[in-house]
Amino acid sequence: MKISMAYEARISEILAEMTLEEKIAQMQQVSPESFRPEVFENFRKLGGGSFLHVLGKDADAVRADAENTRMKIPPIFGIDAIHGHSLLNGAVIYPSQLAMACSWNPSLIKKMGKATAEEVNADGLDWVFSPVLCIGRDTRWGRVDETFGEDPYLVGTLAAAITEGYEEDGLVAACLKHYIGYGEETGARDAYDTEISMRKIREVFLPPFRRAVEAGASTVMTAYGSISGVPMTAHRQLLREVLKDELGFDGFVVTDWYNVGSLRTKQKAVESFADGVRVTVESGNDMSMNSYQFYEHAIRLVKEGKLSMELIDEAVRRILRVKFSLGLFDENKKRMPKECIGSKEHIEINHALTCESLVLLENNGVLPLKETPKKIAVVGPNADDIRAQYGDWTFFSHPNRAPEDTMPKGDYYTVLRGLKTVFADSEVAYAKGCDVMGYSADTMMNEAIALAEDADVVIAVIGDILAQNGEGKDRAVLELSGRQGELIRKLKATGKPVITVLVNGKPLCLGDVIENSDALIETFNGGDLGGLCAAEMIAGKFNPSGKLPISFPRASGQVPCYYNQYAGWHATKYMDVDEGSRYDFGYGLSYTNYEYKNLAISADTAKAGDVLTVSVDITNTGDMDGAEIVEMYYNDLYSSVLTPTRQLCGFTKVFVGAGETVHVELPLAVNDLSLVNANCETVLEPGDFEIMVGGSLATLQTVALKITE
Ligand code: BGC
Repeated sequence: MKISMAYEARISEILAEMTLEEKIAQMQQVSPESFRPEVFENFRKLGGGSFLHVLGKDADAVRADAENTRMKIPPIFGIDAIHGHSLLNGAVIYPSQLAMACSWNPSLIKKMGKATAEEVNADGLDWVFSPVLCIGRDTRWGRVDETFGEDPYLVGTLAAAITEGYEEDGLVAACLKHYIGYGEETGARDAYDTEISMRKIREVFLPPFRRAVEAGASTVMTAYGSISGVPMTAHRQLLREVLKDELGFDGFVVTDWYNVGSLRTKQKAVESFADGVRVTVESGNDMSMNSYQFYEHAIRLVKEGKLSMELIDEAVRRILRVKFSLGLFDENKKRMPKECIGSKEHIEINHALTCESLVLLENNGVLPLKETPKKIAVVGPNADDIRAQYGDWTFFSHPNRAPEDTMPKGDYYTVLRGLKTVFADSEVAYAKGCDVMGYSADTMMNEAIALAEDADVVIAVIGDILAQNGEGKDRAVLELSGRQGELIRKLKATGKPVITVLVNGKPLCLGDVIENSDALIETFNGGDLGGLCAAEMIAGKFNPSGKLPISFPRASGQVPCYYNQYAGWHATKYMDVDEGSRYDFGYGLSYTNYEYKNLAISADTAKAGDVLTVSVDITNTGDMDGAEIVEMYYNDLYSSVLTPTRQLCGFTKVFVGAGETVHVELPLAVNDLSLVNANCETVLEPGDFEIMVGGSLATLQTVALKITE
């Protein structure tokens, strides 16, 4: 959906009719959780502008209440549909954002966005609090699982794609979050202060928002934290001047949960709640999530002349614009049939996306399995833990903890169930071996080793669990927890082939698990089908093509280790850890090999505004068909400010049949080689550049490009 400006006259009429109280109610978003039920009931009657975490029939009932208010303005219902409509048990749960980013497949991610929009819309809701545009650089941060990884270009491309998927048919509004710099806090402690310069914001953090705003996003969510001491909720420059004026964002801005109240209670940036309300609105926030006292204070401030009515009108106009654009005022608002929730079509999209989201990190030739094993020993704490596999933001984790005995209603596969399904003719037995956390009993470990000794192949599934991963769950130690490393070591000692599958929220420091595994597969949080697709990949039913959207550190103390840092200068490495990340951004193996030849560029000299073509021939030299992600980077050799020595500026995914050669062309917009100079201006500096293409950072080939005035 592109936000429509066709309703401005109608909105002016509505604004002229509305009372102050009705306007402020539009700016209020309320959740039935977290505070007294009467507050929620009250806002239903008052004509609250938005409700969150209200599903299905409950949303219908709230909508019906709005019909009985004087102005009959429909509320907009928001939901944390972060990887599918995942707070609803029965909806399709896709891989987490970090997992799906491994596919590097914008068109598939767009399809997933559309399928999610259909399910959310069918459930009577209008607005997804997705996508997350935070950049996962400091992987200690608990919410890295929610990001598309560490690179602004990849994040921007995938965020634009999923936004188009959500919004294209006008089924739901997207919400770009969290604006801005969230995830860069000191020590990666959620929502602590962040020191980022405006230059860095413009270089790294703003471009994904620009892409997604251009893709038609209707709303943006203000981050919890602060930048250089200025709370984001109070960041007039970034909210008004940059987002609304410079990026031309016409939709509305919603705060994150209780941001208004936190200005006083947590950030101590204002002395009173009322002052918090004034600052929030003046700085450019249009809707207040869940600081329900906003309503009474805002009314009083306007009456006392302390808050301008014009700002209120502007905020309400933006909210109504999105409501009109979504068709919420139409009597026959488009609603998808309920049957689309968990439908076969959506499961098929999920299957395709999950297969492409798996990354093969190691393989000594054991995979794909050459023969069907008679006995498979499945071992490890995450082999049959669907909660760990789903990760954050499902009905298990939000909004209320599901009772212990809750099970997913949809079709879901842990790795154990996936293996039993795919290897239906094998004997598949399971022993946990150890827990993810804590010192598990020797008896558990011994049982697993005995099982391994008696099997033809061992599939070990380890990683992290919800207690270590997700919102508010930052980690100081990223090394594998509990006795998991020891378990893999002991399995290796049995002499049986050990295939390790990782089910985890984010990159972990894997230590000797790497040497002790004959093959290593990263699934991150794979959603409903993570376990099935892992089993299919082990069986060779498809050729893995996923590549990492994020670097893996060797040790916790090496974090952050993202690839596009500026050139090292004096000491390029820590004395006690090898140089570079353990697995690079852009790395991933396949069951075949690709050879890159004939790298060329359509011109070796160019200027601002030009669009060049970079081409390369890729040969599949193995005997299995495959899909290869082709990565393109650039290096501005000499520049007025430091720039990364390798920065992603293009990619594509091509199918290459066994023994075939494919000619690949990548467009290169010269303006994308711009930098942000010391005055915070985005400029293209003439000079020498390198354009690099390859299947991983370690195998890039280079052509030269000169930029002239
Ligand atoms: C999170 C947001 C989320 C909101 C509503 C907050 O705690 O930071 O990402 O959308 O809650 O659930």
